[in-house]
Amino acid sequence: MNPESLRTPCFVLDADALKANYQGFAEALGKRFRALRVAYSVKTNAHPAVLAVLREAGAAAEVVSDTEYRLARALGFDDIIFNGPIKGEACFREALQAGSVVNIDSKRELDWLAGMPAGHSVAVGLRVNVSLPEDETFSRFGFDGPELAAAVARIREMPHVRLAGIHLHRTSKSRSLDVYRTLAAKASEVIRTFGLKPAYIDIGGGFFGSMPGKPGFDDYAAVLAEGLEGCLGEETRLIVEPGNALIASPLTMYASVLDTKRIAGERVVVCDASRNDIDPFFRKTDYFKFFPALEEGRPRENSQTVVGCTCLENDRLFHLTDGPRLETGDRIGFRFTGAYTMALSPLFIRYFPRVYVLEDGACRLAFEEWGARQYLSAYGI
Ligand SMILES: Cc1ncc(COP(=O)(O)O)c(C=O)c1O
Repeated sequence: MNPESLRTPCFVLDADALKANYQGFAEALGKRFRALRVAYSVKTNAHPAVLAVLREAGAAAEVVSDTEYRLARALGFDDIIFNGPIKGEACFREALQAGSVVNIDSKRELDWLAGMPAGHSVAVGLRVNVSLPEDETFSRFGFDGPELAAAVARIREMPHVRLAGIHLHRTSKSRSLDVYRTLAAKASEVIRTFGLKPAYIDIGGGFFGSMPGKPGFDDYAAVLAEGLEGCLGEETRLIVEPGNALIASPLTMYASVLDTKRIAGERVVVCDASRNDIDPFFRKTDYFKFFPALEEGRPRENSQTVVGCTCLENDRLFHLTDGPRLETGDRIGFRFTGAYTMALSPLFIRYFPRVYVLEDGACRLAFEEWGARQYLSAYGI
């Protein structure tokens, strides 16, 4: 693919890399777990092209709202893990009846279960609240302490309901192996305390993908296998719900330099992408940036600040010290920009950027940039 041929700002999805991430994770876990489900976390990036690649590769879908549940169904996912505290009752019932894995995360779901006709037997899981040593405060998800015990007891009183599994997702800052040691230890403790024989243990997502210098799929698989040893029966299935690990690395954002100017001695480089596109929480201090197609011998510049296309003062992408002097028309690439970026893209000044898909060596436009026409049509205008 020639980056010069792309119309910017745009994302490029490398479909083969996405498939390889899914297969790499499934193979690493498959070496250590007899029964396994890798369910892609739809919230991380719900672009239909992403979901199509993963569905074809064999992934299940992990969803946390009725909207995501319906999206996954509409795109042909049969195997769905339904999580989260905001499920609607109709969708909850539909998912249970369709045999989806449904992990309960609110008391109202227990009430709905109790109200279901006794003739229909259903299986559910319970989300367990987990704290990590690295936490600054408590996690707001799952059942904890006496409420966990009460939820287990309540489910056990329902003759038509089987407690089939436990769910322990945490997204941590560190994404470290210690997080999975803690999760596995908590799973073992809950299984022992309540004498469970779970059909599945859902350890959630929160993993790094193929990030240089970070734990890899084999490392996570080894830690989970060690930590869960002794609480897995012959048929107990491990479920994982990776989002970031599958979709961060296959997406690259490309921007173009629109203008350069000098302010207070600094060379300011204005580009057509925004921090909103690649860092929607405005938290990162630097990016995996590169400059495709810069000719040899480009003069160097002491200090440049590359700024984004919005009118926010803090829409400043990065600072370049002693770098090639960037000029109008140059391209800037940002790697590892697939997770929680497109999904959190705001309708702010410039609408959703275009998306290309790179597959089998060919690059096709999969989504045209939203302009005024697409925006108005969403309002029926
Ligand atoms: C329940 C659940 N599963 C999986 C994920 C995916 O997390 P990550 O993208 O860090 O793998 C999330 C993210 O918030 C989540 O809430």
